[in-house]
Amino acid sequence: MQKKVSKVNRGIRGEVIIPSDKSISHRAVIFASLANGQSVIKNFSDGQDPLSSLDVCRALGAEVELGNDLIINSKGILQKPSFPLNCGNSGTTIRLISGVLAGQNFESELYGDESLSKRPMRRIIEPLSFMGAQISSIDGHAPLKISGSSLCGIDYHSKLASAQVKSCLLLAGLNAEGCTSFTEPYLSRNHSEILLDYMGADISCENNTVKIQKSELRPCCIEIPGDISSAAYFIVAALIIPNSDIILKNVGLNHTRTGILDVVRLMGGNVEILDKRNSCGEDVGDIRVKYSNLKGCVIEKDLIPRLIDELPIIAVLATQAEGVTEIKDAQDLRNKESDRIKAVVKELSAIGADISERDDGFVINGKTVLKGGAVVEAYHDHRLAMSLFVAGLVAQNDIFINGFEWVNISFPDFEKLFNSTF
Ligand code: S3P
Repeated sequence: MQKKVSKVNRGIRGEVIIPSDKSISHRAVIFASLANGQSVIKNFSDGQDPLSSLDVCRALGAEVELGNDLIINSKGILQKPSFPLNCGNSGTTIRLISGVLAGQNFESELYGDESLSKRPMRRIIEPLSFMGAQISSIDGHAPLKISGSSLCGIDYHSKLASAQVKSCLLLAGLNAEGCTSFTEPYLSRNHSEILLDYMGADISCENNTVKIQKSELRPCCIEIPGDISSAAYFIVAALIIPNSDIILKNVGLNHTRTGILDVVRLMGGNVEILDKRNSCGEDVGDIRVKYSNLKGCVIEKDLIPRLIDELPIIAVLATQAEGVTEIKDAQDLRNKESDRIKAVVKELSAIGADISERDDGFVINGKTVLKGGAVVEAYHDHRLAMSLFVAGLVAQNDIFINGFEWVNISFPDFEKLFNSTF
């Protein structure tokens, strides 16, 4: 589907309730399926990715009622699926579920769409194999065939800061003899650690190391906050569209996810946190954002995992800031739903941004007038589609986004919610 986006002539204003966090939704449904009893999940995401995890858990024997709340009844023991498991577009589903399946006593197969089949799986196959798992792949890519086996804990030092790899190993560790420990160079999102602890696992964290012992999970009642990665599009739109003043309600503010707020403050943006609270171990609050004069900055090192999914929309933000913004140490952006370095540079250049590609990021000269007047591609990537939409709101001429329907992967009501703020 091609979407035409036109410049808005007034600021965005009002209050928006930000929809459910995708990362926490995956974890809630997967972990609840491993617990013996009934779990209640409030505010489960309606994005296609978390629904892929839900479908996979169903195929593994969890009984699911999807009404206002999501109710999971499980015996805590998974059953051999009678067909290959479809993970759709979701890297989180395939990598987390691989950790679960590696230690079961049956065989299974995981596959996904064209984009998922291109994404690297060695990052999980290698450490799982060290634990005793038997996994075959197509040259390090899905489909993955897993022959469940008994696992032993390992002490794994990862070169990558990756919450998907970490969570995969923690899930395998739940079922492994001894202690499984994972150390990463910078701390990636820690929703798995928080929820596993909340559900009674024997888990401990210190700096960038997490350790888990074989454990049984208790069923839980959990309320999922709004997704800061979805809020990011409104944050940036409000900062760059004159006269904007918006309140984003019920946003997850876990420190491992709030890199974008640190960057906005570094750039001189006006953001304020209101009513900070805690829900099931996760920080939550409302965010007020107003139009601001911004200056460029450098984004690197430990900040990168704290805003990895926001880098495409941060690139849009940087086009409207005074001076240069440099993004470094973000090589893994090339392994997301698309090669986000190449895609962001190509498509933002097409509408008039001054942006150039680096191996591990990009460099943007800001305060350019985005002339628009071009057809741009979303590359089957929800975050590209939404970032280009926000760029279109400040471009001089209409832009046309091919593949806009990919927003459904994480944020089906994206356009409806934006329309409510104009
Ligand atoms: C995610 C972790 C991140 C992120 C992805 C969701 C998660 O990936 O990019 O969208 O839910 O664990 P990596 O852990 O591979 O960096």
